[in-house]
Amino acid sequence: MNLHHPQLVKLLQLAYSAEKAAAFAYIGHAGSVKNLDEKVAIKQIEEDEWRHRETVLSIMSQYDIPPSRYNELKYHIIGRTISASCYVIGWFMPYYFAGRLESGNVCEYFIMMRYFNEIGITEHDEALYEMGMKEKEHEVYFQESLQGSRLLPLFEKIFGWGNKRSLNDVDWANKSPVESSKGYCQHSKANGAGEGRKRMRPG
Ligand SMILES: [Fe+2]
Ligand SMILES: [Fe+2]
Repeated sequence: MNLHHPQLVKLLQLAYSAEKAAAFAYIGHAGSVKNLDEKVAIKQIEEDEWRHRETVLSIMSQYDIPPSRYNELKYHIIGRTISASCYVIGWFMPYYFAGRLESGNVCEYFIMMRYFNEIGITEHDEALYEMGMKEKEHEVYFQESLQGSRLLPLFEKIFGWGNKRSLNDVDWANKSPVESSKGYCQHSKANGAGEGRKRMRPG
């Protein structure tokens, strides 16, 4: 069965490759922090991202969607570059930008769910919900880790994410169940854009 939804196909291919970039980045991130608890937590997040990649691939293969070779190469380079940079930019920035990136990624999976629903497919709702919520959990982890950091208010002002500001409308303390989660991310920049991850970056 083919998917007649070009935006959805693009978003799946993008998510598949971007999950690899994230996993690579977390390898460097975990390697560069000194605190053992932080190492373990980031290693766990890396594993979550590899699992997401597998899940996205299994959905793609159901509809004969191949990975994008362009995205695969591009996100390979991005992931490796971020990974290496973690060793030189100190503690704060990898934590901050990981949190900000996760914040943007949350909506990607809720928007995918909506795209699938638009063409009458609901069988992936649960899997997409789980992945969106896992990205939220990652965001909250970084947000909590940054609490008390003196640089946070300044970065929050400049980059629009931090203690009070998020790039999604998911309330972690009061999560909606799958059905009502379809109301999330209506105003996300990626909504209707089909370029998910990229378009949810700064701005
Ligand atoms: Fe992920
Ligand atoms: Fe994540």
